Amino acid sequence: MTIVLERSKQGDKVIEITTREIVVDEKERRELIRIYCSAFDALAESSPVRQSYDKDELIHVLLDSEIDKTIAYHRGKIMGFSMISGNLDKVPWANKEYYKKKFPKYYERGAIYYVKGISVDPKIQNKRFGAIGQKAFSEILKNTESDRYPDDSVFCFDCSMSVNGWMSGFVDKTLNKLKPFAGDPEVALDYQGYFAYVKSENKMPEYNQGVRVGKPQLRMEGIENVQ
Ligand SMILES: CC(C)(COP(=O)(O)OP(=O)(O)OC[C@H]1O[C@@H](n2cnc3c(N)ncnc32)[C@H](O)[C@@H]1OP(=O)(O)O)[C@@H](O)C(=O)NCCC(=O)NCCS
Repeated sequence: MTIVLERSKQGDKVIEITTREIVVDEKERRELIRIYCSAFDALAESSPVRQSYDKDELIHVLLDSEIDKTIAYHRGKIMGFSMISGNLDKVPWANKEYYKKKFPKYYERGAIYYVKGISVDPKIQNKRFGAIGQKAFSEILKNTESDRYPDDSVFCFDCSMSVNGWMSGFVDKTLNKLKPFAGDPEVALDYQGYFAYVKSENKMPEYNQGVRVGKPQLRMEGIENVQ
């Protein structure tokens, strides 16, 4: 089902976005899979945890009516899309008990949305298409008539701080209808570290690069100076 169509323009780039509950058209599904997989392939070796779905999982997501697919078109061609769900059960890595305690009023109202990914076709990345698409999505957020995403809802997302820690700034800049819950887009709900140890008689393994503990790129809520 197509829910809304919004449009945004910058220079000669006109982006139209449509939110679908289910991507019925097989050709469109194939194109979304191509875009998503090639966009995230570039990150495949950059993070110790997966940052994306595999192809089979993505097919399920595209057919799952509880995960909105907002698809952006430029001159009739898909340039990228994002996925959002208002059902935390559709985000297996999200801890519902945390969100229930953290945002009790929103949780009770079912007003917590999780952004599960945004991708732009790598062929046209870094040409402002992502930002223009976000601007069009801003119009959906402003559209209280559709009631798709009611006012006073919470939107959450996660990202790798080392690979795309800049996402919070990008979201903050492009979706002006969303205000950072902590008052500062650079403040995260949590950090998680991924550690490795080598069993060795040597004092120090040869490979010792990584992200230094105690020097997070962003601040965590309620903790100003993590040392
Ligand atoms: C993230 C993504 C959707 C951005 O789309 P895009 O069309 O390439 O982005 P734009 O050209 O509109 O740039 C928007 C802003 O993001 C910044 N940006 C984009 N990619 C960046 C990167 N790799 N590192 C730092 N900043 C980046 C741009 O510098 C720009 O910032 P500015 O407004 O200050 O100039 C796209 O790069 C993508 O699909 N990446 C792979 C998947 C991914 O990482 N998704 C995000 C996590 S779910």
